[in-house]
Amino acid sequence: MTVLLRIDASARLNGSITREMADRFIDGWRKTDPNAKTLSRDVGREPPSIVSEASIRAGFTPPDQRTAEMNDALAESMTLIDELRQAHVLVIAAPLYNYGLPASLKAWIDQIVRPGETFSFDLKRGDFPIRSTLSGKSLVVLSSRGEFGFEPGGIRDGWNHLNPNLRTVATRLLGIAPDDIYEIASEYQEFGDERHDRSREIALRDASELGSRLAAARRSPCSNEKVPA
Ligand SMILES: Cc1cc2nc3c(=O)[nH]c(=O)nc-3n(C[C@H](O)[C@H](O)[C@H](O)COP(=O)(O)O)c2cc1C
Repeated sequence: MTVLLRIDASARLNGSITREMADRFIDGWRKTDPNAKTLSRDVGREPPSIVSEASIRAGFTPPDQRTAEMNDALAESMTLIDELRQAHVLVIAAPLYNYGLPASLKAWIDQIVRPGETFSFDLKRGDFPIRSTLSGKSLVVLSSRGEFGFEPGGIRDGWNHLNPNLRTVATRLLGIAPDDIYEIASEYQEFGDERHDRSREIALRDASELGSRLAAARRSPCSNEKVPA
């Protein structure tokens, strides 16, 4: 059974485009694979804690030497890591905030990337000592932006630090292959004109289609098909 982990990062609980995109993606998936299980972590509604000195110290202490206080400091992180471990597909619904990640999503990343849990660190590896201990997951990033033109050559080329950040985290820290990352975005939300209507409509349609196609590719036991986003 495929497990989807849905992360919602919009602070808006009503009228959120990214939440709607995630609904469409999951609905599309379920049309093809009704037995898929969805875990939901709404960091927009309930932001994870920001890492603290106590949680960092606990995280870098070997498990058999941790005190009860240290285990308490890591409890939230362990819950979030457990959800991540179960997931085959990570669905991140994330608005662009101030050209970067919503703080709640950054807090979630800082809670799930942990030495000895999701990555190992070994200086014998030279200049790249970090290696993820996770593998085989896919990442779907469903984003919405108030502005537009973030694509290569666009009028805001280089201003979007959300998608590149998530790609680097996924490939360098979560063991996700670049070919297993899929991205869809709606734009023009702040303009509220027909360009926005069209962009949103296309993004919602694409999210639903991507859900169905990825579910179909996963269900076929002989398929090594890579589905273009
Ligand atoms: C705090 C905040 C910061 C934002 N910063 C940006 C920005 O830097 N660039 C942009 O294009 N849109 C920006 N927006 C607009 C959102 O990306 C847009 O409203 C998006 O649709 C929000 O996602 P949601 O509909 O799922 O809530 C910002 C919105 C908020 C609330």
